[in-house]
Amino acid sequence: MLRPVALALFVATTTPSLNAATLTAQPAARTTAAAARSAARAVDPRRERFVDSVLARLTLEEKLGQLTQYRGQSSATGPQTPEAGAADIRAGRVGSFLGTFGAQVTRDMQRVAVEESRAKIPLLFAHDVIHGFRTIFPVSIGEAASWDPAAVERAARVAAAEAAAHGLHWTFAPMVDIARDPRWGRIVEGAGEDPYLGATMAAARVFGFQGTSLRDTLTILATAKHFVGYGAAEGGRDYNVAEIPPRTLREIYLPPFHAAANAGARSVMAAFNEIDGVPMHAHRDLIDGVLRSQWGWDGILVSDWTGVMELMPHGVAADSARAARLAIDAGVDVDMVSNFYMSHLSGEVRAGRVPIAVVDSAVRRVLRAKYELGLFEDPYRYSSVARERALTLAPPFVAEARELARRAIVLLKNDGNTLPLRKDLGSIAVIGPLADDARSALGSWSAAGRPEDAITPLAGIRQAAGTRTRILYARGASVDTADTSGFAEAVRLTREADAVVLVIGEHQDMSAESRNRASIDLPGVQLQLVQAVSAAARSGNKPVVAVLMNGRPLAVPWLADSIPAIVEAWYLGVQTGPALADVLFGDYNPGGKLPVSFPRTVGQVPVYYNHKNTGRPSNERERYTSKYIDVPWTPQWPFGHGLSYTTFGYGPVRPSATEIRPTDSITVTVEVTNTGSRDGDEVVQLYLRDDAASVTRPVRMLKGFRRVTLRAGERRSVSFTLRPQDLAFYDVRMRHVVEPGTFTVWVGGSSLGGQSARFRVAGSTTEIPDRGPLPPNWRP
Ligand code: NOJ
Repeated sequence: MLRPVALALFVATTTPSLNAATLTAQPAARTTAAAARSAARAVDPRRERFVDSVLARLTLEEKLGQLTQYRGQSSATGPQTPEAGAADIRAGRVGSFLGTFGAQVTRDMQRVAVEESRAKIPLLFAHDVIHGFRTIFPVSIGEAASWDPAAVERAARVAAAEAAAHGLHWTFAPMVDIARDPRWGRIVEGAGEDPYLGATMAAARVFGFQGTSLRDTLTILATAKHFVGYGAAEGGRDYNVAEIPPRTLREIYLPPFHAAANAGARSVMAAFNEIDGVPMHAHRDLIDGVLRSQWGWDGILVSDWTGVMELMPHGVAADSARAARLAIDAGVDVDMVSNFYMSHLSGEVRAGRVPIAVVDSAVRRVLRAKYELGLFEDPYRYSSVARERALTLAPPFVAEARELARRAIVLLKNDGNTLPLRKDLGSIAVIGPLADDARSALGSWSAAGRPEDAITPLAGIRQAAGTRTRILYARGASVDTADTSGFAEAVRLTREADAVVLVIGEHQDMSAESRNRASIDLPGVQLQLVQAVSAAARSGNKPVVAVLMNGRPLAVPWLADSIPAIVEAWYLGVQTGPALADVLFGDYNPGGKLPVSFPRTVGQVPVYYNHKNTGRPSNERERYTSKYIDVPWTPQWPFGHGLSYTTFGYGPVRPSATEIRPTDSITVTVEVTNTGSRDGDEVVQLYLRDDAASVTRPVRMLKGFRRVTLRAGERRSVSFTLRPQDLAFYDVRMRHVVEPGTFTVWVGGSSLGGQSARFRVAGSTTEIPDRGPLPPNWRP
């Protein structure tokens, strides 16, 4: 049982609302934590001796058992595969389970493993704990929209604590895939299109899940997934091939994995895609070469669901034995549900086709994790019925979920200060298929989340309005059918009310694994519903607000032109309603920013801010430039965009030097002022461009950001340090270099505009080891 003192302590470092001071003013504790983490990563001779002694007494079949993961209670995310029962555990044929949780159930299964099997090795219980376990937080793309890695770290800590109390040791998160294609359903699970923002979110989540010690029963193993390039699936079609040139792979897709590895992620999951003819489950160069050898990462590489088996349909393995061999050779340690390692590797080892040393290395990695979690000392330490009861939906966790939900909201448009809504309105019509959809509020991948735990937008608005404002509600339409029979009621309520809030978008199962869309428009007849309601509101001169719920950028050009206020609310989790109401009524001033560009139409895809300039940069007035004849070439809303109920002004950008050497760092300072009349948050963003280099460079690259809270009228100086790593790129020979020349730096509130300055790097081209996108001591 987690004693009240322990819970209070946990909460004190988890919940800013309860103890903001501990969080913001604890550099000493944080330094110690970072030291503890790097110590844990260093080789621990006691652990190694122990692991070797266990390994020495295992039969080959028992070793393969450690590398075998079976599915448990959770639903399948691919081809159906067999389940394992007590007999398999007893026979040592299982090392871990996916999707089985619950203190009692995991205790019972663990007992069979440690009391009834010959080798007595405890099991690992794994699950997809992506954005909360039972206390569901905003979907990952929404969390990234907070641009607040410290809050995202706290969310992962809460998720880990809750999941661990239910017997789980291992989460398949964070998903750190960069995604530039909103058609891809899994864009919802990541941090968007940018490698730097993605890297900070990846590291923050790893720190959050794993804490300072895996022996702590409030922490679980984190998994950076899907290694690598999964977000580049051609056509946005899940599982499809990814065509990624080597430099783009290094500079765009790999950095978040590098950051997660540096943050100490104990596991990484292989991706379903191939890159240039090599499926990732057989990609030795990237797994063994880059991840393990170049980055020095030493965790468990787990396959994705039937990823080992899929080497056959990919067409690189003629039979299942070959598939198993290719995967283990490439460095895939754990076979998730294919059961090919168990069925084939003993034969392959005995025939001399797979060296036993390769199997032993993989088994060692699994045993190390079990050791680090303390399971050899007490296999039941995670499965505590009392802790499960104490921590599930604990009020401080729910408060944390509300805070992050508010931070995740992005105000896309607010003409004429339509928002916040006046608190003295007589009535508000809340209209739309998602207004009262509790399941959608949770989003996809919601682990043990339950709709009954979620407060919908309608319920949140009702709670906030209390008795002072009458709330009228009409669903109007469903998300994805052609039925318009509810329009009349929606229009009637619009006429009756003083203001309208439309809650529209995609239901939660439209942005998820295998839920790709060829259109990114509002589905069904929702646009027509919006138009009907908006016409009725306009004739009565009533404010209309559109709240979007979606896990991907949607193309909503009509709304962008015609609806005065638009709020991006993603799927905000159990506290969706209260967080949204806080923003709508002005009790919270929104400060989120888009982690991904919103196109005007699907035909522009891919559209991302860090594109190349081309030889004919887009120019609406010049015919022979890179653009379209039917829509502007720019996105509807760019990466980094987000408004506030106040305004911010930026002073000149001041680099600490006009000229530096390639191995120098430079500091860039700017003064930011809250020029409006309300307190508010601004995400100060720093972008960089290498003006001329030996290979083409993006027009801008995010290299720093900070979310700051400024009181009305307050001015603050914000500084960023750019290191050689930030100025470096991969040249034609794939050397990571800083080249001499000028760099332009912009600081502002989005990826467009901002104040700029220039500095020069003097000297000669200098190679800089690529140690990952974040400084070594980076902390959220
Ligand atoms: C398939 C997904 O690709 C992966 O992200 C997930 O962790 C596994 N299924 C297990 O559910």
